[in-house]
Amino acid sequence: MSAAGSNVRENWSARSGFIFAAVGSAVGLGNIWRFPYVAYENGGGAFLLPYLIALVTAGLPLLFLDYIVGHKYRRSAPLSYQQITAKAESIGWWQVMVCLFIGLYYASVLAWAASYVYFSFGQKWQADPENFFTNQYLQSNTLQSGSSAGLSLDIIPHLFFPIVAMWLIVLTILLLGIKRGIEWSNKIFIPLLMVLFLILVVTAVRLPGAMTGLDAFFTPNWQAMSSYKVWLAAYGHIFFSLSVGFGIMVTYASYLGKKVNLTASGLVVGLANSSFELLAGIGVFAALGFMAQVQGVPVSDVVKGGIGLAFIVFPKLISSLGSGGDWFGCLFFSCLVFAGITSLVSVMEVPISAIVDKTGCQRKTAVLGVGGGTALVSTLLFSTASAMMLVDIIDHFINNIGVVLGALLSIVLVAWLMRSKLSEYTRHVNAISSIKLGKVWQILLMVVTPLSLIVALVLTMSELFSAGYGDYSRAMVMTFGWGSVLCCLLGAILLPYLPHQKNKRGDAKSTTSIRESHHE
Ligand code: PFF
Repeated sequence: MSAAGSNVRENWSARSGFIFAAVGSAVGLGNIWRFPYVAYENGGGAFLLPYLIALVTAGLPLLFLDYIVGHKYRRSAPLSYQQITAKAESIGWWQVMVCLFIGLYYASVLAWAASYVYFSFGQKWQADPENFFTNQYLQSNTLQSGSSAGLSLDIIPHLFFPIVAMWLIVLTILLLGIKRGIEWSNKIFIPLLMVLFLILVVTAVRLPGAMTGLDAFFTPNWQAMSSYKVWLAAYGHIFFSLSVGFGIMVTYASYLGKKVNLTASGLVVGLANSSFELLAGIGVFAALGFMAQVQGVPVSDVVKGGIGLAFIVFPKLISSLGSGGDWFGCLFFSCLVFAGITSLVSVMEVPISAIVDKTGCQRKTAVLGVGGGTALVSTLLFSTASAMMLVDIIDHFINNIGVVLGALLSIVLVAWLMRSKLSEYTRHVNAISSIKLGKVWQILLMVVTPLSLIVALVLTMSELFSAGYGDYSRAMVMTFGWGSVLCCLLGAILLPYLPHQKNKRGDAKSTTSIRESHHE
């Protein structure tokens, strides 16, 4: 074996390893704190229809495309796109940059959740969870005002150590590799998450007032369906929810063996993700119903999504449960941690595999270099009183522009510019899958998926240009919001120039043939 032999691309030990990892990526914080709120805001029970239509007409078709690209070329995102046409390598590097930015802030939210597992015992937030979270815990109130409002670089120890711990866990999993690290951790965390979450939901629906919450969640507002915003919310949510367009699914599918039932795997992943999401809606709204009853207010008064739901509303609810709330809190925040770790691992695997493929370096070097570097920046930036502002701004820009544009570019490439590829991919997937794809899939990819992404992108961009984002100063939004998008662009332009292993060793051909033979 040549020097490249030590760099043979590792595979999942079985298809189940891939499915667990793909479910682990898809089931993340978004399922727990995003879906229930988005559904409630957009027609409640009636939202399920646009949601299912978006899943079938855009989410699954794009998921299949990601799988096929990864499986056919068996390379990380940049080198897979490069196989389609040389210039397309940049699309993959754009996705790599997007993943790096997500990794930066996602770890910090996970660290908060981990701290709240501990805070749940004895309900450390006491009478005022909102004040505790923003002022005592995140210390956002210590920030000065002015054009640099919100920026502080002083490290807060109680934020620092949990982020370091999260990164140590994630980097260890990544260091252990595909089979022993990613596959095993998902095979442990996902079943554990399912069991804990089921206990949580069953406890929630048995609380007094739970039915009022479920009524509020499921009562359909059919009128909402005539609003384009509801459809946009459904399409916008489904890409994020399935983790498509990030390069994650391309990367994970590249570790599959030759003969794998790709479409059936995609359906299993989609079904598991949506079922989890629905279960989260039931659990969250049952709990909110209970809280509304305790406070004597309508459910609409207590509904929130995102960070506010997890770190302000849930602690209030836990307090209303008395001392039994400690366990409820511990369960809820542990679920956030387990769901989040597997998603963070998936998002960091994208840059790591890209660097290994491109430069031919050892996996360990890439994990320590790229993963360690991201961990360092993440720890330094997000252990400060600016953490909340940075999470909010970067998350908004990266998800609404970064992810959407990455997904759109990959579709425009395959379904518009290189249309002949679609028939080639259809033959590729149908030769190994039980559920066959055909013209319908191709048309969905050529029309529905790109149009929904274009509309979402145009509307978000025009809103950002006209109204800015949140109450943050312009300087902060420019630096961290548009600045992150600019960094992704720079990465997409410059990273293709990284020395390719072919140039470095002159043995790209032997590396490829070793990879191919390994897969036979
Ligand atoms: N599907 C994931 C979620 O719902 O949270 C999306 C995701 C976010 C995946 C962040 C990976 C990640 F790091």
